[in-house]
Amino acid sequence: MRRPLVRALSRPLILAAVAMVIPLASAAPAASDGVVLGGYPVDVSQSPWTVALSSRDRFGGMRSGQFCGGVAVGPTTVLTAAHCMGEEALGGPPERVSDLKVVAGRTDLYSDVGQEVSVRSVWVNPRYDRSSNAGDFAVLTLAEPLPAEAAIRMAGAGDGAYQPGGEALVYGWGDTTGFGAYAHTLRAAPVHVLADSLCERAYPGSSEGAYLAQSMVCAGEARGGRDACQGDSGGPLVAQGRLIGLVSWGSGCGRPGSPGVYTRVSDALRTLGWDVAARGAHRAPGGP
Ligand code: ARG
Repeated sequence: MRRPLVRALSRPLILAAVAMVIPLASAAPAASDGVVLGGYPVDVSQSPWTVALSSRDRFGGMRSGQFCGGVAVGPTTVLTAAHCMGEEALGGPPERVSDLKVVAGRTDLYSDVGQEVSVRSVWVNPRYDRSSNAGDFAVLTLAEPLPAEAAIRMAGAGDGAYQPGGEALVYGWGDTTGFGAYAHTLRAAPVHVLADSLCERAYPGSSEGAYLAQSMVCAGEARGGRDACQGDSGGPLVAQGRLIGLVSWGSGCGRPGSPGVYTRVSDALRTLGWDVAARGAHRAPGGP
């Protein structure tokens, strides 16, 4: 790996890493065998819309160049986190990363199973706010289509899948321990959609971000343990078979009282002017 530190992606990640130094001495690490933490291995055929974002030039070839997750929402359309396309992650604008690809159908990043598709264009939400992390999404347009059945349906505003208490699954190849142990096979962790008030209390606003219910979804476990973690960003949070969130940020991983924060997909749809039924096939004027 040429530049192992670059996997310390993005500002949310760097801060999380710093914050983690403190609890280490006092508290036991969260129970973890995870996604993602507290999860289990899955085959990508069970969640074909879960894709890996890759740049071997920047992140090394070992794990297929994976550095973030993404979600196929149409044959040539992938959603990911805006912070995955940021300067701190990529070292420059995404256009400068000439080998930016989406890897689909590959459970094990050590293998060459599945498909690698070049990213033709990247549209980063211009309203992404790096201080709160609001609006943390970007749209990638692929050079070639993925299999049609790979796309997942998105949950629009008012969809029951956003109901607190509901069961959800988060998928990714990220850190399974909170200590930088990146998975090479895909994992999923069962979490619950949590009330906005819980995340509002946990994240009233700090250097890590601020929970804003309009554009974010709160999910995890009150006891901690199950959560997304670094390297899972941009990946899917799915409830009732529909996409409700993208892994965005949190304080540490799987810590009690610090749930995962996800980009609210219905808010992204609204920003994009996309019709849910159209599965992202409709372009917003001035959008991607
Ligand atoms: N920002 C992280 C990334 O770039 C994702 C962190 C999610 N953290 C959490 N505790 N759910 O991969």
